[in-house]
Amino acid sequence: MATVRELLDAAVARLRASGSDTARLDAELLLAHALDVDRTGVIANWSAPVGEGAAARFRELLERRAAGEPVAYIRGVKEFRGLAFGVDERALIPRPETEKLVELAELEVVRRLISAPRPPGTPRLRVIDVGTGSGAIAVTLAVLLNRRRMLDEVALSAADISEDALQLAKENAVGHAIADRLEFLVADLLPGDGQWDVVLANLPYVRTDAIPNLPKAASFEPVRALDGGPDGLQVIARLLDRLPTAVANGGAALLEIGGDQEHAFRDLAAARLRGWELEIERDLGGLPRVAILRHQ
Ligand SMILES: C[S@@+](CC[C@H](N)C(=O)[O-])C[C@H]1O[C@@H](n2cnc3c(N)ncnc32)[C@H](O)[C@@H]1O
Repeated sequence: MATVRELLDAAVARLRASGSDTARLDAELLLAHALDVDRTGVIANWSAPVGEGAAARFRELLERRAAGEPVAYIRGVKEFRGLAFGVDERALIPRPETEKLVELAELEVVRRLISAPRPPGTPRLRVIDVGTGSGAIAVTLAVLLNRRRMLDEVALSAADISEDALQLAKENAVGHAIADRLEFLVADLLPGDGQWDVVLANLPYVRTDAIPNLPKAASFEPVRALDGGPDGLQVIARLLDRLPTAVANGGAALLEIGGDQEHAFRDLAAARLRGWELEIERDLGGLPRVAILRHQ
């Protein structure tokens, strides 16, 4: 029987040869998955023998990864802001940079809830996550607000143009025990002619011509989750067009943008949202990442 170390060393060589930049991490995660333990269980047991059944399962997973499939789809799970999200080809794998949007969204909602007295009968704060995908933003925000005992004061909706993605978002909401606290809507951007106090969105923003150059793993993700049109900002521009009627007076929109899109985004917003205030927050890598638009 091969040991953990022997299997991993062979797997790392196989994945490096297939072009993975994260061969060791991928191999450890996949072996942990095949053994049904967490990653620490693998790296703390280098010399343990691995049974034939688990070794065969591991080889199968390894071949999927060598063919380019993302580790998150193979494992069926991705950690986002400390929460486990079920992921598959129905939706984009949540990215770490989107955690910045969630952090700012939580602050925005909390600030609104505590900045003025809210006597009984005050309408709930209306918040919507547009293009919810796996539900990473809406579900995480619901969990965070629930921990603060503030979720009752918020009417939180999650919308997507893809019914498949929305189904996955519902499954994740069920997994985090907040499905009954969220409204799920199939919509092209914003549903109907409603108004919201806070609009959140991580819409597709990759330029169409850049999609073939993305890492192979992205080819497993729905193209509708990535493709932002010729300049990458077409879907976002359509959302900006809707904001003047969709965002209530005094409300805000927090939108994720590409790290190289700050100037183009500022131009779009200046042309469409006259009189609105715009700030752009950077992510942990120092790149412009979240545009905060305030309706004065
Ligand atoms: C970049 S993914 C983001 C998914 C998720 N919010 C996240 O941060 O991981 C973009 C999502 O927007 C959805 N989408 C694309 N065009 C849309 C549209 N016109 N209206 C609503 N959703 C749209 C896609 O189906 C996809 O789920």
